[in-house]
Amino acid sequence: MTELAGKHIVLGLSGGVACYKAAELTRLLIKAGATVQVVMTEAAGQFITPVTMQALSGRAVYGSQWDAREPNNMPHINLSREADAILVAPCSADFIARLVQGRADELLSLLCLARPAGRVPLLLAPAMNREMWAHPATQRNLAQVAADGATVLGVGTGDQACGETGDGRMLEPPEIMDELSAFFTPKRLAGQRVLVTAGPTFEAIDPVRGITNLSSGKMGFAIARAAREAGAEVTLVSGPVHLPTPRGVRRIPVQSAQEMLQAVASQAQGASIFIATAAVADWRPAQPSGQKIKKDGSGAVPTLAFVENEDILATVAKSERARSGALFCVGFAAESENLLEHASAKRLRKGVPLLVGNIGPATFGQDDNTLVLIDEQGHRTLPRASKQALARELVADIASRVAPLR
Ligand code: CTP
Repeated sequence: MTELAGKHIVLGLSGGVACYKAAELTRLLIKAGATVQVVMTEAAGQFITPVTMQALSGRAVYGSQWDAREPNNMPHINLSREADAILVAPCSADFIARLVQGRADELLSLLCLARPAGRVPLLLAPAMNREMWAHPATQRNLAQVAADGATVLGVGTGDQACGETGDGRMLEPPEIMDELSAFFTPKRLAGQRVLVTAGPTFEAIDPVRGITNLSSGKMGFAIARAAREAGAEVTLVSGPVHLPTPRGVRRIPVQSAQEMLQAVASQAQGASIFIATAAVADWRPAQPSGQKIKKDGSGAVPTLAFVENEDILATVAKSERARSGALFCVGFAAESENLLEHASAKRLRKGVPLLVGNIGPATFGQDDNTLVLIDEQGHRTLPRASKQALARELVADIASRVAPLR
């Protein structure tokens, strides 16, 4: 379940081509367990019909402050009081200007003005042409609505409906979903700087071959995302995986264990929490060939000699910052049998206060997992769930172990 389950969202559409994305956004919100009440301006009706939005949201769409369906004839009061949040997506340049002025001559701006500001947050997903976005009037208005308490989501960059290219596109529906679920997540890690390693490493044999493993990176990416949603500043050092970078997370791509160690060593200086989920190769070819190794036709096979990679987690856990308690280290253990026994021994060997065990072959590449949290006191199992749900639980657990920072 996400943070959006059970939330009631008033989704406001103002006029813009990006209205087509509001249809998909509604589907995603419903899928996440939210209820959606759509409110459209007259201009939005030029881009998408209330019929589509009603069919997708399962509720009659509101478009007028004179809507007589409400027994008290006050849709602006009723709709804004029952919402957990009002999200305007797309939010046009004109609509932002209207909010700045506190206009109340049509339903959507009226209900934004009438909302109990301390209880019902207002989120805006701007959408407009790049010149309109860059115009000082728009930027001035955005600063003002933010100062008045609205949360202004970012915009995307790219091709625009007008044929131009630049900033101002509305975020894609999955990106808005991420922003919204981050918005509702308690900020347990506010002020923390979290460093995560994820994915496999790739140890070159020659320029076209190498040794790697089956780690998909999914657990580490889910943890990076959950930590960011919980208010942390997150850096993700990732081996080669084809996963999108979670929104708001800084990603440092690496290939080999040596590159990962280098990136981690420099980032760990400023971090307060280090979570090592990467499946780091234990060994690398001692002498990778500068050129592709060729068959010579004789049937002879190359002999590979290996050297051991440095243990990134153990190295960080031994550092002065970790030992003084300024850096809280969390390890992972991918085992194939005797999970509790191996993982408990690994916690002591690595010198970390918390180690998270899982059965590697059962989880590599999957979307769900089971975790065992092992600390000095004992262990606790997080039963089978999606990696994202487990990541949220793990982040909450870690937050309870580190001193709050503000
Ligand atoms: N790890 C690391 N650097 C390494 C090897 C492992 O940082 N060179 C980290 C992993 O990211 C994980 C933990 O150490 O957090 C345990 O990794 P795992 O592969 O389960 O254990 P190993 O140390 O490789 O031990 P073994 O091979 O005996 O299982």
